[in-house]
Amino acid sequence: MAVVLNRHVVLLTFAFTRFCSACNIVANRDDHTGDIPTIAKYFGTKTRYEEVNPYLLNDILLVNKTPLRLQQDCSPVHISAVIRHGTRYPTAKNVKKVIAIYNLVEKTKHRGRGLVDDINHWDMWYNDTMDGQLVEKGRDDHRNLAVRLATAYPSLFSEDSFRDCRMKFITSSKHRCVDSTLSFIEGLVKKYWKMQDRRKDMHCQLEVNDDLMRFFDKCERFVVDVEQNKTALQQVDLFKTKPEMQEVLDKVASLLDIAASDITADLVEAAFYMCSYELSIRNLSSPWCQLFDQEDAKVLEYANDLKQYWKRGYGHEINSKSSCCLFHDLFKRLDKAVEESERSGTVSEPAAFQIGHAETLLPLLSLMGFFKDETPLTADNFAQQGGRVFRTGHIVPYASNLVFILHRCEGSHRLQLLLNEKPLSFPNMDDPAPEYQEVKNLYSNLLKGCDFKKECKLPSASGTVNPIIHEL
Ligand SMILES: *[C@@H]1O[C@H](CO)[C@@H](O)[C@H](O)[C@H]1NC(C)=O
Ligand SMILES: *[C@@H]1O[C@H](CO)[C@@H](O)[C@H](O)[C@H]1NC(C)=O
Ligand SMILES: *[C@@H]1O[C@H](CO)[C@@H](O)[C@H](O)[C@H]1NC(C)=O
Repeated sequence: MAVVLNRHVVLLTFAFTRFCSACNIVANRDDHTGDIPTIAKYFGTKTRYEEVNPYLLNDILLVNKTPLRLQQDCSPVHISAVIRHGTRYPTAKNVKKVIAIYNLVEKTKHRGRGLVDDINHWDMWYNDTMDGQLVEKGRDDHRNLAVRLATAYPSLFSEDSFRDCRMKFITSSKHRCVDSTLSFIEGLVKKYWKMQDRRKDMHCQLEVNDDLMRFFDKCERFVVDVEQNKTALQQVDLFKTKPEMQEVLDKVASLLDIAASDITADLVEAAFYMCSYELSIRNLSSPWCQLFDQEDAKVLEYANDLKQYWKRGYGHEINSKSSCCLFHDLFKRLDKAVEESERSGTVSEPAAFQIGHAETLLPLLSLMGFFKDETPLTADNFAQQGGRVFRTGHIVPYASNLVFILHRCEGSHRLQLLLNEKPLSFPNMDDPAPEYQEVKNLYSNLLKGCDFKKECKLPSASGTVNPIIHEL
């Protein structure tokens, strides 16, 4: 499998057995493997995919075809999917926080209280070198997702179209995304097609394209107005001072037997995410989970959702507008498929998979008007937002996927949309697979405008600003 990087072809030896950079750690079989913590569905962007589709816990390859079936007599001609990378290690920044809270608890060792004791016996195994890399579970997320999508739409996943390089794979340059893409392909090749003779089949190219998959880094207006704007996330900072959050802090301090003044919202979040990492990476319910009940978890979930709302969602218009390039790319692909299907009945590219980040999906979903609450999420309205639709744990867990399936039907083409393998209706449309032209009418303003260059350009007055590209 070759990877196109900056238009130069770099050969990536595609050995199915390599896949192991930082994953020489496997779940310690002596560890206590308890039930799923009740707080598991509140981990926001660090939520397991299985939490949104719990039936997968029983059968990871199960496809429920009934809700995917269309009313009309149609046949699928093209699939385009935007997919988030799979389960990953914490980033170096988060590992530092995790170590900080662990060290704080370690100091209270001598007091020998139950929970503190359990945490002290828990083995601190995270380190900086793991820095956001895909874990083995993350590879499985993608291998299995590939098999399920192929099972749902077998005619779009023919071995021949793969061999002829008519299936397209585009990825962000981040290690976890490239590895996710390779795992997705591996799932098709080994688990779905069960190809024997692999070497000669692996000649197609994988495209690394950050303009499409990490557009947020390339959008100057976003970088300056949001990323570098000290007040862009003020609602998040403010929420951390609110009574709801303060209660959680006090409670955690008391459970850990440390002074309330020693603990911060950041450290409490680190403890919360430690529970998430142990569950998603090692399938363990760790003692960290016992620090929180569901009410605490809802508060911490809100803090995460608030941040995503203001940084990636509806909070600032440029967040969604920065995805204009990806939006146009998707519709260009669909247009071409419709045109070819109408002209000759065959589509040259039956499938395109684009692997990126939660930060890729959230702006696109916001641009297209999904999960928009009537009232903005703010530091003050936690209680009122209990039933909000902007819930990142439901929308963008690990390996989350937005899938467009174009069908040729009697007299027209229809577009079916799935989020995380479940039908998603277009805003203000009831039909789960409206006519393609209707979808284009719905988005006519965006299709006519939404110019990435124009939206992302800063007025020349601030032309002296030199944007710093942040690592995400
Ligand atoms: C995860 O742990 C549960 C027990 O809590 C077990 O039933 C399940 O098989 C494990 N899943 C995997 C994928 O190992
Ligand atoms: C990080 O952890 C891995 C796995 O336990 C280990 O191989 C590696 O040496 C550790 N790195 C550091 C810097 O401690
Ligand atoms: C920074 O964010 C604040 C809060 O959302 C917003 O009011 C302000 O316009 C932003 N500044 C710039 C330069 O965009």
